[in-house]
Amino acid sequence: MSIGNRSSRSRLKALSVTIGVTVLGLLAAAALAHPAAAQTNTLTVAVDGDDGDPGSLSAPLRTLQRAVDLAEPGTVIQIRGGTYSPGTNVRVQKDGTASQPITMRAYNGEHVVIDGENMPNTPAPVGESYPRIERGAIHVGGDWWRFEGLEIINGPYGIFAIESSNNVYRDLVTRDNYETGLHIVLDSSDNQVVNLDSYGNRDPRKNGESADGLAIKQGSGSGNRVIGARLWNNADDGFDTWDFLSPIRVEDSVAWGNGFNRWGFPDWQGDGNGFKLGRGDADHLVSNSIAFDNAVGGFIDNGNTASLRLENNTAWRNGGSGFIFNRSASTLDRNLSLSNGGGVNLGSSGGSGNSWDIKGSWSDADLVGTSTSAITGARGADGSIRETDFLRPRDYANLGADFTGDGGGTGEPGRYEAEGPSASCDGTIDSNHPGYSGSGFCNTENTTGAAAQFTIDAAGAGTATLEIRFANGGSAARPASVEVNGAAVQSASFESTGAWANWSTNSLTVQLDSGANTIRLAATGSGGLPNIDYLDVHAS
Ligand code: GCU
Ligand code: CA
Repeated sequence: MSIGNRSSRSRLKALSVTIGVTVLGLLAAAALAHPAAAQTNTLTVAVDGDDGDPGSLSAPLRTLQRAVDLAEPGTVIQIRGGTYSPGTNVRVQKDGTASQPITMRAYNGEHVVIDGENMPNTPAPVGESYPRIERGAIHVGGDWWRFEGLEIINGPYGIFAIESSNNVYRDLVTRDNYETGLHIVLDSSDNQVVNLDSYGNRDPRKNGESADGLAIKQGSGSGNRVIGARLWNNADDGFDTWDFLSPIRVEDSVAWGNGFNRWGFPDWQGDGNGFKLGRGDADHLVSNSIAFDNAVGGFIDNGNTASLRLENNTAWRNGGSGFIFNRSASTLDRNLSLSNGGGVNLGSSGGSGNSWDIKGSWSDADLVGTSTSAITGARGADGSIRETDFLRPRDYANLGADFTGDGGGTGEPGRYEAEGPSASCDGTIDSNHPGYSGSGFCNTENTTGAAAQFTIDAAGAGTATLEIRFANGGSAARPASVEVNGAAVQSASFESTGAWANWSTNSLTVQLDSGANTIRLAATGSGGLPNIDYLDVHAS
């Protein structure tokens, strides 16, 4: 985890508190004479279960809280289908570990609904504040958790995650909660939100002022990432980063219909932006995302004065401007803005290849498709947003967001970005050194064995040239072994490029099989790999 010193210290404090609580939890579990349950690696919960039972598939537990209390690193809590309506919120206060995260997921694709309506503060009275621990139908204060395939409704917030890191939120639905659907706050790093659907969240307590689909707010911590989110019909905004002081990456996400008073609240306060990327200075990155039909703005810096990057996004039919980046020094490349209530407002932000750089006037006649049914409809079997030509421009193939599934607007034939879907990185995807292609680069850990791996496609078996684009701002060369389909075939040396913003390419010749091949670059020195931008593959 790369978080600042101040944050590390407060994390340590939080950690020792959590350890204390965990020890107490274990003692309590032992005292309750269910040690067998605490030792199993899988705990099952079912609506007809019993908290006195061991939590096996045939004798499941009844409550999520009991399962959480029994869980240890490595435990999988599997929840049978049905609706769970506890009278108090589920509190997740213990940690998994890097190698043994704790998982809470729907059993075998069954439909699990966690209904917070019976919990306090659903809603809290207008203007009233209430303790943080009561926030969230699921309240997360632990690290190294995975929440998968759950639907969370009517809660006092859907999920409220506070000082929690390295968690994965995947294939979740958070809807109709009495505050933000998924809310991450304070020191929080390396969390991943993947394929979230968050809608209809509203806050009568504040007349619509703060219920967003997704918020990562009022905190800091690197490595937070949002992929494939759909955020719609929420009271305030789709996504909000208010006062989060570290860069967040948002990719392949869609926000629509936010900011309308659908509940008849008096004195309406909802803001109505798709992606609201302020305040607090942080170089957020948003790529291949769409904001449409929001009450006010599409994408907005909202007083963030840093250098944000907006790449291949589309703003359509929003009530106000599509792109408002007049208070930051941002770079906007290849974005598409049309049919919004107002023109773009860029101040001193720059960039190139945007619709407004190409020609003066754009209309729906410039688009291939404007039907919203695929983008708003059911997701594909793997949880991803269905392929659609929604808002693709007829001309200018590299412009705007692209959900057609042909690799996005920026791809070049034979190019595999290190941050892309067919690559993995033993480290973080960063964007803090300019000059990379796509939306970032792989910064591996500085250890022997740290690797970047690509799965590439070859039309036929034979010799191919690999061009690896890298930067090495250190003074020493960084050596690596090159493995093709699991076998080490040669070594490579990545010389110093003088600075982390200076990029260079190394060419290698390798033999490929026909079809899928894995190319793994693994550091053979303790400095790890250089920063890796992409791999280009040419038949030779
Ligand atoms: C710096 C630099 C990183 C790089 C790292 C390294 O921290 O900012 O981008 O990966 O050095 O030495 O590997
Ligand atoms: Ca590194």
